[in-house]
Amino acid sequence: MSGRVAGIFVTFEGIDGSGKSTQARRLAEALAATGREVVLTREPGGSPGAEEIRALLLQGEADRWSPETECLLFTAARRDHMEKRVLPALARGAVVISDRFADSTRLYQGITRGDLRGLVDKLHALMIGREPDLTLLIDIDPTVGLERAFARKGSEERFENMGQAMQARMREGFLALAAEFSERIRVIDGARDPDSVAAEVLATVGARLDGARA
Ligand code: ADP
Ligand code: TYD
Repeated sequence: MSGRVAGIFVTFEGIDGSGKSTQARRLAEALAATGREVVLTREPGGSPGAEEIRALLLQGEADRWSPETECLLFTAARRDHMEKRVLPALARGAVVISDRFADSTRLYQGITRGDLRGLVDKLHALMIGREPDLTLLIDIDPTVGLERAFARKGSEERFENMGQAMQARMREGFLALAAEFSERIRVIDGARDPDSVAAEVLATVGARLDGARA
């Protein structure tokens, strides 16, 4: 085997306020400290063009876009992010950590505004065509998630205005996705203190990295 370490694509998913951004940052710091190249990124966004699309998606009135247009905008942002940032980094052998990816589209666009999962899957196959190597689903009670999300409320509220019933549906939807993609998605209990969650995240990713080297 060559000495080159393979790139690995890790994503964080979960409802708003579950602790994804906190854990993505901590994982990036922990892996960078071992000397690996780490690219920490997020969706929607992660590349200059996709960040512009992010502003279109997350600001403004809830009915700003039709469900179909919204799917296209998330897919366009993801395509740019993949082309410009994710795929080049993986080709260099980096660990790419993305705060949200396609599972968010399967959930938020796939079920929030009607049954569009079929459309989401078709667009993904056509324009993205790649899944993460590993997905950490940070699972948390929707009430706790909303409390945390509202505590750091900013201008990007289009989706966070959805309320508790929708957050509860999202949580169930994410857990159903974890069952559907059980090889790829690991469920992490996010109700614990940040250090405990970070330790389990690092152990899970470490096991995957060891597997990739074996
Ligand atoms: P997300 O990216 O999933 O929306 P964040 O990482 O931004 O979540 O966390 C939302 C808020 O909750 C932040 O203010 C963060 O500091 C806090 N937080 C994150 N993880 C925990 C935790 N395990 N326990 C308590 N508070 C947390
Ligand atoms: P994010 O900034 O990750 O929000 P948070 O930190 O509160 O979890 O994502 C912004 C919003 O975008 C979030 O409410 C979920 C939504 N979203 C979708 O609806 N579809 C998608 O494909 C993605 C990536 C995000």
